[in-house]
Order: sequence, then C-alpha cells, then structure tokens
Amino acid sequence: MKIVIVGASGTMGSYLSNAFEKEHEVIRTDRNGADVKVDITSTEAIENMYGRIGAFDALICTAGPSFVGPWKNLNDKSFRNGVEGKMMGQINLVLIGQHYINPKGSFTLITGALAHEPQKNFANASAVNAAVEGFVRAAAIELENSIRINAVSPTVIENSPQYFPFFPGEMPVTMKQLEYGFRKSVFGANTGQIITPH
Ligand SMILES: NC(=O)c1ccc[n+]([C@@H]2O[C@H](COP(=O)([O-])OP(=O)(O)OC[C@H]3O[C@@H](n4cnc5c(N)ncnc54)[C@H](OP(=O)(O)O)[C@@H]3O)[C@@H](O)[C@H]2O)c1
Repeated sequence: MKIVIVGASGTMGSYLSNAFEKEHEVIRTDRNGADVKVDITSTEAIENMYGRIGAFDALICTAGPSFVGPWKNLNDKSFRNGVEGKMMGQINLVLIGQHYINPKGSFTLITGALAHEPQKNFANASAVNAAVEGFVRAAAIELENSIRINAVSPTVIENSPQYFPFFPGEMPVTMKQLEYGFRKSVFGANTGQIITPH
C-alpha cells in the first residue's frame, strides 16, 4: 500500500512511519518534508504535494497545529491557529485529496480526547477536534468510490511526557495502542468512525 503520512517528523508521525514502512511504501511529509514538503495551512501547498505524490492508497494526518496556552491569551488571532491548522488543514487534505486517492482508499485524521473532555490551556484544540470529528462523520456519507474516512482520537500519549501534567488522572495511551488505532482505520472496513485507542 502507498501510505502518505502528514506530520511524519512529529511524535506520532515518526512512530507510525517507522511502523508502517516495514510493510508498505510510506511517503513522509511535513513542512520540512523528508520525502515531500507541505504546509497544510496552504491549499496551494496541498495541491502541490498531491501533484508530486500522485495516486495513493491511504493518507494519515498527524499534523494538527492549534494554540496551547492560558485562556487569557486566547483571542481571534491565536484561535485561528487551530482553525487554519488542525481544522481547515485536515479538511483541505481530504477535499483536495479525494481527487488523487485510489478507489477504496482511506483518510485517517487526528483529533483527541479534548473534543469531549476539556483540559485547561487547550480550548482551541477542543473546539477544532470536535469540528474535525463532525466533518469525518459527514464526509463518510459523501465520499465516492468506496473511499473511507475516520479520525483517531487518543488521550495524551506515552511519548509526550511534557503534556502529562496537563492531563491529571489520564492513563497515557501507549504508542502500540496508538499504532493499532491507526491500523484499524487504514486496514479495516470502517468509515465515519472516531477511533479511541485503548
Ligand atoms: N501528543 C499527544 O499526547 C497527543 C494526544 C492527543 C492528540 N494529539 C494531537 O495529535 C497531533 C500530533 O501530535 P504530536 O504530539 O505527534 O505533534 P508533534 O510532535 O508536534 O508533531 C507535529 C507534526 O506536524 C507537522 N506540522 C506542524 N504544522 C504543520 C503544518 N502547518 N503543515 C504540515 N505539517 C505540520 C510537524 O512538522 P513541521 O513542524 O516540520 O511541519 C510534525 O511533523 C496534534 O494535533 C495533537 O493535538 C496529541
């Protein structure tokens, strides 16, 4: 399978790229682009990325920038980090990518438990996670050619200890559990699902 991983240099993306490249062709993308560069806040950059990659079977997005910080610093400008990044960035990956993906292909987006379980400093991520999850459910009934779409929605993950203090009482998701959540989306038959790795 030809699998595009957006955000491939990140904590999740690097783990998933290493796991999936044992059995599949993995194309690593982000703003520095080990294979292909993309800035998901730009529709032009997304078009260029797909133009360079050509047809593919699955896209995994683990790039989802949003504003993290105290409530007093949240305003129209800072909130747009998540709107233009994690929300429209991922939505545009699908709206543009549907014209490049092979029939029976799949999109897997990243959201997070903050969608329904808020924590202080993360209101921007809570809002855009919920928006992306709404989009996933809607897109699943619109996409043609048996193309599937799901979101993976973990709580804080094992390899991000810097976030542990912000998620009191949360048992971190292991990287293996995270990988299997993505496996369920990429290799399963499900669509329109919000997959919670555990
Ligand atoms: N870490 C956790 O515990 C956790 C838990 C639940 C949900 N999440 C969500 O999961 C996502 C990934 O988390 P992570 O910890 O793996 O993040 P990360 O380590 O910061 O990695 C983010 C990746 O996205 C890329 N990226 C950032 N902005 C981009 C842009 N505009 N265009 C293209 N690529 C971009 C980064 O590379 P460049 O900067 O080089 O472009 C990097 O490869 C985030 O949305 C986060 O909210 C994380």
